[in-house]
Amino acid sequence: MRNIPSVGALSSALGLAREGFPFIYNRCRRFQSDLFEISVPFLKVVCISGPEAAQIFYDPERFARRGAIPKRIQRTLFGENGVQTLDDAAHRRRKEMFMSVMTPENSQRLSDLLHDHWRACIKKWEKQDEVVLFDELQALLCRVACAWAGVPLVENESQRRGHQLWQLVDAFGAVGPRHLRGRWARSQTEDWMRSIILAIREGRIQAPEGTSAYTMAFYPDFDGAPMDAQIAAVELLNIVRPIVAISTYIVFAALALHEHPEYRERLQAGDEKERERFTHEVRRYYPFAPFLGAKVRSAFDWRGYHFPKGAMVLMDVYGTNRDPDAWKRPMEFWPDRFKEWDGSAYNFIPQGGGDYYKNHRCAGEWVTIETVKIALDYLTKHMQYDVPPQDLGFKLSRMPTYPRSGFVVRQVRGVNV
Ligand code: HEM
Repeated sequence: MRNIPSVGALSSALGLAREGFPFIYNRCRRFQSDLFEISVPFLKVVCISGPEAAQIFYDPERFARRGAIPKRIQRTLFGENGVQTLDDAAHRRRKEMFMSVMTPENSQRLSDLLHDHWRACIKKWEKQDEVVLFDELQALLCRVACAWAGVPLVENESQRRGHQLWQLVDAFGAVGPRHLRGRWARSQTEDWMRSIILAIREGRIQAPEGTSAYTMAFYPDFDGAPMDAQIAAVELLNIVRPIVAISTYIVFAALALHEHPEYRERLQAGDEKERERFTHEVRRYYPFAPFLGAKVRSAFDWRGYHFPKGAMVLMDVYGTNRDPDAWKRPMEFWPDRFKEWDGSAYNFIPQGGGDYYKNHRCAGEWVTIETVKIALDYLTKHMQYDVPPQDLGFKLSRMPTYPRSGFVVRQVRGVNV
């Protein structure tokens, strides 16, 4: 069997803290290899990168998610016993529930809600001197997410709840106070969602049929019974929380427009495809998910290397989106690259790869794409704004990351809103 490059556990921990997102990518380039091992006592950890690695990673015969997601991530970002932790029939059943709300009617409703809330926000921002886009978007997307999902939200709660939902995401790569804030936010938001699930079941709240809240309150789980209210709450948060997280991509889209002003005119004049390519490039170029973990369920060989049962494998999301064999000029922001993209489910994996139903690929990928596309419409066609001097840098060692200033805009002027 082939030996692969190996790095020590301590140097990996330090390297991850120092480098952040490109940790696996940097080592794969240095070793000229699409896999390497981290030598951890009593546990085999293998990092893999690139489209071919993604193809094996998304083979459910080879990998399982059970036991692969650290508790600290479940207690902040995901919640415990959610869809991310399931395999086989239990996963397929739960995933079907998520996919069942992704209907054309719900797509239209999402788009209508986004238009209404963007217009209302622009009118509000016109009256303010200065707006921190990132903070405003969390509240805007919280209102949209709750209305779309059938979750009642008192108007003056959107800022607080939006921020809480963001704190769940903000905790995923954190230790110390940021992690603790995420845990507190998780307990607050799970209590909130559980009370809604129970109120819907008891008829105290009427959630329209077809919404996520209604679906999750009544969907029969794998054993035919409705889900435990706590698990239903975790899954309802798995809809509402990531919609708020799209604020990150929208702020990065605003940054891309600021740094590449030639695209503003192209997007104003361009068609749907132009907006889609720009959206894809924002998701490819700007970092969000660094890597994904799974456990080897039955031993296999790949690239002459033996993956034993129980080994932990980390799939490089950041580096695969920049794989030099798959992407020309991978380090450049260049939306036109998507004119030639082959549509592979394995070379462009900002929201996971493989199949939506059979694998763990993100259930909300089209929601994300639509939400960013509509945001681009507003940023380029329906508002003019000044961008004052500010710190627009973002740290690759911070997970998640976003422009430090939150993207401040001044003198917002609405156009046909
Ligand atoms: C899974 C990223 C938005 C719902 C995932 C995964 C990633 C991801 C990397 C894991 C894939 C894997 O484990 O193989 C993102 C990013 C988003 C986003 C970067 C935008 C900022 C959304 C939205 C929704 C959503 C808007 C729902 C409306 C889910 C669910 C899963 C998931 C339910 C679990 C799927 C499963 O385990 O089968 N997402 N996502 N996500 N996402 Fe998203």
